[in-house]
Amino acid sequence: MNNIILEGFMGSGKTTLGKELANSLGFSFVDTDEYIENKYNRIIKDIFANEGEEYFRDMETEAIEELSKKDSMVIALGGGLPVREVNREILKKTGKVIYLKAKVSTLCDRLKNDTNRPLLMNVSLEDRINELMNKRGSIYEEVADYTVNTDDKTIEQVVKEMEAIYEDISN
Ligand code: S3P
Repeated sequence: MNNIILEGFMGSGKTTLGKELANSLGFSFVDTDEYIENKYNRIIKDIFANEGEEYFRDMETEAIEELSKKDSMVIALGGGLPVREVNREILKKTGKVIYLKAKVSTLCDRLKNDTNRPLLMNVSLEDRINELMNKRGSIYEEVADYTVNTDDKTIEQVVKEMEAIYEDISN
């Protein structure tokens, strides 16, 4: 499959950058969170609150399995999706993965006013980001075919870098 998959921590810009990249490549754009919300007509925050994280993770596995059958898409992953090994296996057959990397301080800055991400509620933001990044950093690296550092870059700059990656993939 020729899909481009964007992974990275919450606040790394997967959705914003993914939409721009999809536009420029003439691909469709899908975000796994939005896909789940539309499929079940629920919002992520409520799924976490009512059924819990594991239930949401099952929905994510189902979502990426369904999306793996499609082509010519830019797929933005929920930040926790690559953590499950079964999901990583599905990603391998779905397309090339770009890791949108950012420093903890950058993520903190981008997430400080967020109220929609259940894993960041009622905790010290910096501690939680550090804790999750300690668990996930090596997973993101392992899954990535390409890595783009997003710190101190404009949307246009990052999209340009991803376009160059796409050129590289298609040649
Ligand atoms: C999560 C990231 C969120 C969403 C959920 C859990 C995570 O997606 O899937 O709140 O575990 O990192 P974004 O990365 O798009 O914010």
